[in-house]
Amino acid sequence: MKKFLYLILFSLLTFNFSLFTVTGCAKKDDVIKLGVAGPMTGDQAKMGTDFRNGVDLAVAEWNEKGGVLGKKIAMVVSDDQHDPKQAVSVANKMVNEGTVGVIGHFNSSCSIPASEVYNRAGIPMITPASTNPQLTERGFDNIFRVCGRDDQQGAVAADFVTNRLRLKKIAILHDKTTYGQGLANEFKKALGNKVEVVHYGGIIQGDKDFKAVLTVVKEKKPELIFFGGIYPEAALLVKQAKELGIKTPFMSGDGVIDPKFIEIAGPSAEGTYLTFSPDPVKIPTAKVFLDSYHKKYGDHGPYSIYAYDAANIMLTAIKDVKSTEGKKITEKLHTLEFNGALGTIKFDKKGDVTVAPYVIWITKGGKFEEYR
Ligand code: ALA
Repeated sequence: MKKFLYLILFSLLTFNFSLFTVTGCAKKDDVIKLGVAGPMTGDQAKMGTDFRNGVDLAVAEWNEKGGVLGKKIAMVVSDDQHDPKQAVSVANKMVNEGTVGVIGHFNSSCSIPASEVYNRAGIPMITPASTNPQLTERGFDNIFRVCGRDDQQGAVAADFVTNRLRLKKIAILHDKTTYGQGLANEFKKALGNKVEVVHYGGIIQGDKDFKAVLTVVKEKKPELIFFGGIYPEAALLVKQAKELGIKTPFMSGDGVIDPKFIEIAGPSAEGTYLTFSPDPVKIPTAKVFLDSYHKKYGDHGPYSIYAYDAANIMLTAIKDVKSTEGKKITEKLHTLEFNGALGTIKFDKKGDVTVAPYVIWITKGGKFEEYR
């Protein structure tokens, strides 16, 4: 029995540590705490790690120059495990811990419920990656995103399918999450009556075998299969589709454009179309960031640069208003014109970016490249 109790105690301690860690060595009250939240463990951990590294780089650069408001910045890393309930729990911990701003979360299904906690506490949140329109449609003035929205992303995908590829029969799958289903809906809405949607349905996130649904889709003979979801399921879908002899190309969105997709799917990933923002390698203002990031952490992920800019925006607002008061930072964020690694970023009244350029990418030769 005693052994069992020790085991529970040990698990609880390790669990809490893995959910929430403060990095840096300065004393608790001598620092300004900047939160970073996302899936740090589990099958989407690559995205969380990209966030952490992007924020870590920004924080290190600020600290090298003395920090902000005369104090060092400590990064508070929290793991929501892409679980909405866990996201609310870490949001509450962020508030109790005294973080002055949060960079996160990754998944819309986490950002939306967590943002209610940050809104009640008056703490500004900037997500690098949550694209579901609902996030900024609830009148919360302290919630921002540096990425685009799925109504924009879905429209670009639909335009490509109808006007560029000129397809007529499409199947749509989604992972039933806020993001995945939301993107699938926006895509379907933007297709209008220009194409026939021969299949529309969900899969279960976390499942490993999609052959039953793929067999149903195969019988409907679509010319393209659109998937709203994240790379772990997308990779298995394209892989199993090929195993079933389905030659139809796949298309997906920002949640799939990660090297992990190609790593898991192998050659089956070839020819997959994706919507995402333009390649930062071609953005002149991104060069310094990319060089420093590669030196410190290796290859950048799709959202590393977004996390970096989001952290710099938050810290710039704190510096400009000379305060860590949430209300003041929030007000500043609405008027700030920030020239960062991605170029100029400005938020509108809702907290969305004023410019969100989505382009089409393709998986080719084991890499992602912009589609020409
Ligand atoms: N864009 C994805 C989401 O909103 C990552 O969940």
